[in-house]
Amino acid sequence: MPNRPKTRILVDGGDPEETSRIKNLIGSVDGQTTNPSLIAKNPEVQRLIASGHKLTTEEQKEQYKKIVQKMSALIGNAGVSIEVFADLNTTAEQMLAQGQEMFSWVPNAYIKYPCTHEGLRAAQASVKRDIRINMTLCFSQDQAAAVYAATRGAKEPVYVSPFIGRLDDRGEDGMDVVRNILRMYRVGDGHVWLLAASIRHLNHLLCSFALGAELATAPGKVLQEWAANGQPLPDQSFVYKGIDSSGHSLKPIQYKDLDLNASWESFDLNPALTKQGIQKFVADYESTLRRSA
Ligand code: E4P
Repeated sequence: MPNRPKTRILVDGGDPEETSRIKNLIGSVDGQTTNPSLIAKNPEVQRLIASGHKLTTEEQKEQYKKIVQKMSALIGNAGVSIEVFADLNTTAEQMLAQGQEMFSWVPNAYIKYPCTHEGLRAAQASVKRDIRINMTLCFSQDQAAAVYAATRGAKEPVYVSPFIGRLDDRGEDGMDVVRNILRMYRVGDGHVWLLAASIRHLNHLLCSFALGAELATAPGKVLQEWAANGQPLPDQSFVYKGIDSSGHSLKPIQYKDLDLNASWESFDLNPALTKQGIQKFVADYESTLRRSA
């Protein structure tokens, strides 16, 4: 039996064939995450575009549904995360309407909303309706505190996805945000689970295991590398070094004392990276469409 960490392992991708390959390689996968950029890269979607057939919004939605339905059958109980299409003007009500529809696509859906003011309002309304959620584009401890405060009372675990690699990309140590959120949640009631995301290399994955993240999502190539190395688990001697691809040290991100009992609106929900992340998802989504939405 291959090594398994306590952390649930998800595949970060947009292609069910890849999920199936990874499942065969590592024995099982607990879940799947998708996003608009990953769905735009799906081989079938790309084939349609290459043949000159850009999609209508309805066709795009049908493709997305077909893709997650295939994934749904391949994975364990960490579910398939499906992301709503939100630009900077999308309201909570518009996100919720999409979320309700997407939640009916598969029995193990988690709906992804951005960690913005409107995304948090949609999250609050969703947990009241027992819609499972994954709060995405999280770049700070403040955003994770807001997720906690807005979703108190949820019947099922709420996921929050800090994006490690995108913080690393701008010279900050993304792994610190994971470490800080887990530390902050230690005094909480356990209703929010940390899903380590934007994993770029094996050490991000191993450090997520070592820190005790409840879940981690990694692209196929990182999981292949994990398998090729014999599915190692970090032991006591594991040390994570926050360095970039040239070996330069990443800037540490300090822990903040935040009160999880404060109102969610009191936390800072405006990291520039969240806004940029939304804009990138919109651009990738629209690149598959017949005409800009
Ligand atoms: C997963 O839920 C995220 O959308 C994904 O990990 C983002 O990764 P990226 O920063 O490599 O795009």
